[in-house]
Amino acid sequence: MSLAYLSGFGNEFASEALPGALPVGRNSPQRCPYGLYAEQLSGTAFTAPRHANRRSWLYRIRPAAMHGAFGLLPEGRFHNAFGAGPVSPEQMRWNPLPLPEAPTDFLDGLYTMAGNGGPEAGTGIGIHVYAANRSMQGRYFYDADGELLIVPQQGRLRLRTEFGVLEVEPQEIALVPRGIRFMVELPDGVARGYVCENFGAALRLPDLGPIGSNGLANPRDFLAPVAAWEDVEGDFELVAKFQGRLWRAAIGHSPLDVVAWHGNHVPCKYDLRRFNTIGSISFDHPDPSIFLVLTSPSDTPGVGNMDFVIFPPRILAMEDTFRPPWFHRNVASEFMGLIHGAYDAKAEGFVPGGASLHNSFTGHGPDAETFEKASAADTSVPHYIRDTMAFMFESRFVLRPTAQAQAAAHRQRDYLACWAGLKKHFTKDTP
Ligand SMILES: [Fe+2]
Repeated sequence: MSLAYLSGFGNEFASEALPGALPVGRNSPQRCPYGLYAEQLSGTAFTAPRHANRRSWLYRIRPAAMHGAFGLLPEGRFHNAFGAGPVSPEQMRWNPLPLPEAPTDFLDGLYTMAGNGGPEAGTGIGIHVYAANRSMQGRYFYDADGELLIVPQQGRLRLRTEFGVLEVEPQEIALVPRGIRFMVELPDGVARGYVCENFGAALRLPDLGPIGSNGLANPRDFLAPVAAWEDVEGDFELVAKFQGRLWRAAIGHSPLDVVAWHGNHVPCKYDLRRFNTIGSISFDHPDPSIFLVLTSPSDTPGVGNMDFVIFPPRILAMEDTFRPPWFHRNVASEFMGLIHGAYDAKAEGFVPGGASLHNSFTGHGPDAETFEKASAADTSVPHYIRDTMAFMFESRFVLRPTAQAQAAAHRQRDYLACWAGLKKHFTKDTP
């Protein structure tokens, strides 16, 4: 299936699936074309500054208010119960979440790994992984708690949303703003990946400062769907994530019945392979903020509620430099995943679909094998890193691993051993 997209990030887009479905000159005329209902979806406070204001107008067959009563679903593996008890500063790493054997759709396949803050506070993030083997059928979902940054690692996702259809494959990401209803189909039969649920301010492109007006993720590479409606009736269900829990309501029609829309509170996708990677061409390895794709700003200037950073293919040309990421301890907390290939700071153990967590001020860095190799490398020639795509969800607050993530069978309990082989090279008589 070849889909049409609208190019840009944060733009005021407009799309209509029937000619003349979008009202002209006003948002809510007395009667909308084609007998549609007008409905506004506000993603920010009405009075948010213009550059940060996000809202869309939807012209739909039935208003979003039409569904049955909500009932609480039992707590499953997808939640925001990050706990208030002790949180270990230990480095943690996991193998990929196993693909399910029982029929499991995207929503049922979500598995919460860690998080901080929450929907009540309106700050922090939830970090989830998913593994699924069937399309959502007759069920629709929206997340009132946070914006969803979806990072597929295996298998494509077809997101049928109120705004139209987005198809994403591994090494692409999808961004579904708060409150937008959608369902997920799996064109490849199985799918696995990562999701960051952002409770804070909507993700946006970072300022570029001295880099200039181009570079990193360029706005035109973000693609929003075009309007595509469905007019079907049946015994369906609408699942809402609301204040950390899932709620279910019966709905007698598809809520993906938007015939036309305009606005900037819209889902979009981005191909990470289009990231314009910038780095040092003299010496030293820059801070990973040089690889920032999207940021959710906090109330403190320069300090993100959440940063989405990637480690894409690149050419390392720095001379007399230890080229892999250095040993470090940060105030920020880091959850990493690997989408494709190998990550240049780890020789083995960090595999596609896997994850690691390095919390605030916990030491980490290259493993022993990577250290020895990079220390002996010839830095007079460039080193080409191909076939890789790692990423990081970085947070200003400590990430609290969930009980299920700590106890998971796929957790690597021997992770610390990757640094155990680092030799003592110190000799006081040899500068
Ligand atoms: Fe790190």
